Amino acid sequence: MKTLLTVSSLRYQYPDGHEALKGVSFDINSGEKVALVGANGSGKSTLLLLIAGAMDQTSGEILFNGSDDPETRRRKTGLIFQDADDQILMPTVAEDVAFTPVAYGMDRREAHALAMKILSSLGVEHLASRVPHKLSGGEKRMATFAGILAASPEMLLLDEPTAALDPAARRRVINFLRDTDMTLLLATHDLDIALEVCGSALVMSHGTLSAAGKLPELFNDEKILLENNLKA
Ligand SMILES: Nc1ncnc2c1ncn2[C@@H]1O[C@H](COP(=O)(O)OP(=O)(O)OP(=O)(O)O)[C@@H](O)[C@H]1O
Ligand SMILES: [Mg+2]
Repeated sequence: MKTLLTVSSLRYQYPDGHEALKGVSFDINSGEKVALVGANGSGKSTLLLLIAGAMDQTSGEILFNGSDDPETRRRKTGLIFQDADDQILMPTVAEDVAFTPVAYGMDRREAHALAMKILSSLGVEHLASRVPHKLSGGEKRMATFAGILAASPEMLLLDEPTAALDPAARRRVINFLRDTDMTLLLATHDLDIALEVCGSALVMSHGTLSAAGKLPELFNDEKILLENNLKA
């Protein structure tokens, strides 16, 4: 299997001095689906933001297809933020979903058709002409998801992708993630989603990786679950 992402000795200190990542190393192969789990504040969102190229690491290295250029990662990864409000730009959902394909040079009509196809594959084509800012939390999340997919990323970085979704929408997202061939790194507190979608997991604790391994085996280890706040 080809290594797609290599993270080595990654550190990140926020401007206020808080050290969110204290040396994190792992590899992800092309086509792999990896869960990222760990307590609140353990560094999952920070790690996803660095991989996506949204912030620069304090030290350490991130290689994507062998390149350490953050621009490569900005183009080739799609990050679904924990807070969907950060992500929406355009006056209607369909235009928002078509935004990146148009920016990359796709003809507007073709981009619109692609947007509609993606919205219906997620079961939310009824949102196409709505104003993104007036959507409910879960609707926004689905619209954001469609927008990310329209950019056809090589790797999806998902931060709590099913938070705020109703059971039917949650199921559509899980099925999509389970069935896609895309490489995934999926941060979640929901171990059932991790088990259904992912073949392995990385466990974060206080800015470091405290465990890693195959699923479901890793989650059968009661001690790991309890020590990492994965179980109460
Ligand atoms: N903008 C910021 N400035 C300073 N510290 C921050 C900032 N954002 C996050 N942190 C801190 O960095 C640490 C890691 O935060 P992060 O958001 O990566 O955690 P997380 O694992 O995603 O948590 P959660 O499960 O709650 O989403 C936390 O201690 C958090 O308080
Ligand atoms: Mg987070």
